[in-house]
Amino acid sequence: MLSLMPFQRERGLKLVKGRGQYVWDDEGRMYLDAHTGHGAAFLGHTPPRVVEALARQMRELMVATPVFDTEVKEEALKALSRILPKKLTAVYLQNSGAEAVELALKIAAKHTGRRKIIAFKGGFHGRTAGALSVTWSRQYREGFKLLPGIEFASFNSLEAADLIDEETAAAIVEPIQGEGGVKPATREFLREVSRACSESQALLILDEVQSGFGRSGEVWAHQKRGVTPDIMVAGKSIGGGFPVSLVAAREELLASFKGGDHGSTHGGNPLALAAVKAGVETLLEENVPKQAMEKGSALLRRLKEIESRIVREVRGEGLMIGIELRFDPTPLVAHLQSRGVLALKAAKTVLRLLPPYLITSRDIEILAARVEEAIRHEEGRRGVAPPPKGL
Ligand SMILES: Cc1ncc(COP(=O)(O)O)c(C=O)c1O
Repeated sequence: MLSLMPFQRERGLKLVKGRGQYVWDDEGRMYLDAHTGHGAAFLGHTPPRVVEALARQMRELMVATPVFDTEVKEEALKALSRILPKKLTAVYLQNSGAEAVELALKIAAKHTGRRKIIAFKGGFHGRTAGALSVTWSRQYREGFKLLPGIEFASFNSLEAADLIDEETAAAIVEPIQGEGGVKPATREFLREVSRACSESQALLILDEVQSGFGRSGEVWAHQKRGVTPDIMVAGKSIGGGFPVSLVAAREELLASFKGGDHGSTHGGNPLALAAVKAGVETLLEENVPKQAMEKGSALLRRLKEIESRIVREVRGEGLMIGIELRFDPTPLVAHLQSRGVLALKAAKTVLRLLPPYLITSRDIEILAARVEEAIRHEEGRRGVAPPPKGL
């Protein structure tokens, strides 16, 4: 009997259908989805514009590498130009976040001719060799041969900038660390990293794979932090759930690349392009970032009202929310699932919520109530008394 390689802890749930903010299992039970495939279904499950665009494209042309012009390529680039940072006029599509990070690192190395990369403690950038090399978690890195020249600096520390010098090709950083525990970068920190990069002519790579495309309440989470990347990486939800990622860069950084220096069989295939175009249209026409901001604030407010001795902190931006506990949140994730809510873990102690922008005020109430219930259940299991009321 063939089985998948055992890299993940199975959830014991067979999903058969997803619509909007909900998924259903094979017994017909409905779940409010705050897992969204690690955030990929931020536009909701089977978003209608994306599904229609994919169906149409599938009937016309499924395969064409970027060496060919296609109508859908022109349309997707036009759509992307409406949301990408204005200075980043060169873009390339890949299939996953990790692949896009690889390309960003290649561009930085080739443009600068330098090898040193500054990454950050708690950062996560994917599982391929280069992306893993700039990922912090020892558990993910152990046992593999990784890129040389990577130095890890403290996230949100202004001293981090001291590591950036004339030998540095790039600093790679998430505006909000996701996997590392839903930790927003402060404006001062990002600005200092950006300043040190330009002083040393090193490149600033912002990884917006998780925080980007509206989830933080802005199209890109770096916008309100007053920095502009030299290279930006996005993925997860940009194709409405279709597997696609992108790298956007300042055009002059590509000057030393010749034809054939990079490529990808499926990267930027017509289906991915159709999905991205429809994804961007959905983002803009539905005012997704604004909805994420308003709904995220309401959810955050409600979650912060939960008083408990097992909760250290509730934090987040838009619909990227973390509840930092005093221990591993796995039992709470399981309890939530048994009560019809899908959530996930981040770092060692954070319960992470990544709901789609479609959640309603009723969903927000249900989500917060279920989280509170899971916390009370865990307090009971651990013999921790809830704080006295009215204090
Ligand atoms: C910030 C960030 N970068 C990169 C990645 C890697 O993306 P993928 O899993 O699509 O390779 C992730 C995935 O969680 C991520 O959160």
